[in-house]
Amino acid sequence: MKRIFSGVQPTGNLHLGNYLGAIRNFARLQDDYECIYCVVDMHAITMWQDPAELQANTREVTATYLAAGIDAKRHIIFNQSQVPAHAELAWVFNCVTRLGWLNRMTQFKDKAGKHRENASAGLYVYPALMAADILLYKATHVPVGEDQKQHLELTRDVAQKFNNDFGKDIFPIVEPLIYGEATRVMSLRDGAKKMSKSDPSDYSRITFTDGPDEIAQKIRKAKTDPQPLPDSTDGFEGRPEAANLITIYAALADITADDVLADYGGQQFSDFKKALTDLAVEKLGPVGQEMQRLMADPAYVDSILKDGAERAEAIARPILKEVYEAVGFLNVR
Ligand code: TYM
Repeated sequence: MKRIFSGVQPTGNLHLGNYLGAIRNFARLQDDYECIYCVVDMHAITMWQDPAELQANTREVTATYLAAGIDAKRHIIFNQSQVPAHAELAWVFNCVTRLGWLNRMTQFKDKAGKHRENASAGLYVYPALMAADILLYKATHVPVGEDQKQHLELTRDVAQKFNNDFGKDIFPIVEPLIYGEATRVMSLRDGAKKMSKSDPSDYSRITFTDGPDEIAQKIRKAKTDPQPLPDSTDGFEGRPEAANLITIYAALADITADDVLADYGGQQFSDFKKALTDLAVEKLGPVGQEMQRLMADPAYVDSILKDGAERAEAIARPILKEVYEAVGFLNVR
């Protein structure tokens, strides 16, 4: 059986990177895998979230999953907190994961910043909860953007150590699915920084709530360099902003970056930016509109999550039971 698990944090500002690196792939994988897509609200609270916004953002990620074409009848969409087995398995994994592994996690270092003493303990053990998300369903494949690769390596280490420690072959060793032209979309303001939900500048990212005018304005203001577009991807060296815009175009058009440069190489950025704007509006507009339409019906969105949580729970419970038995928890009920 090939089973996919993946998740997105409901922390607002869902952007083009989330879409091209992850959510669009989620939708494209549904004919070949049994898919479980989670809104990871428990991961979100590892950094402070306003409670009312967390609720709204949870519905927004759900609506975006649906708008991107994920079929919630054939597959499962749910929010993490509603299936308590995630927290339960995460505790077991906290006891399997080594401090040395967690200390190497670059995302913790980035998010904790200079004031590490002020970071939550949850942020530190975040990767153990992520391993629990995936392994709770014995998922075999995990579609993510490039930035999650290290977390998936830790997931493999946790699975291997658990199986070893308890002498049982319970967990599969998961395969990351990091693919497509845009596995790492960069900020529109700085080609050295990842496009992210938390960047203080709204101009750094294109979001699903942006209309055509906002998309046009953000692309017009996107940082470039003074030279014309290169003739091939060999010319990306030292030109991260050019590489980023061309990669975004390629991903949106479903062609390679070299294909894009066969058409636009040698031209000025201004013409290319107009074409990129049209393409982005054409591809993202319908998803954004459908997302907003669904957001107007929160009862419907909640019903999808409720149904998904029930079906996720039914898969997760027996697997957690198997883990508890392996660990030696005495079952008296
Ligand atoms: P999150 O919410 O930060 O991001 C969701 C997905 O979007 C991808 N992504 C990007 N892809 C390309 N370019 C970018 N600039 C970019 N920014 C984000 C991420 O790689 C991710 O696939 N830890 C995860 C959530 C998570 C999870 C899981 C994922 C929790 N449990 C289990 C997979 C399996 C995260 O923070 O994603």
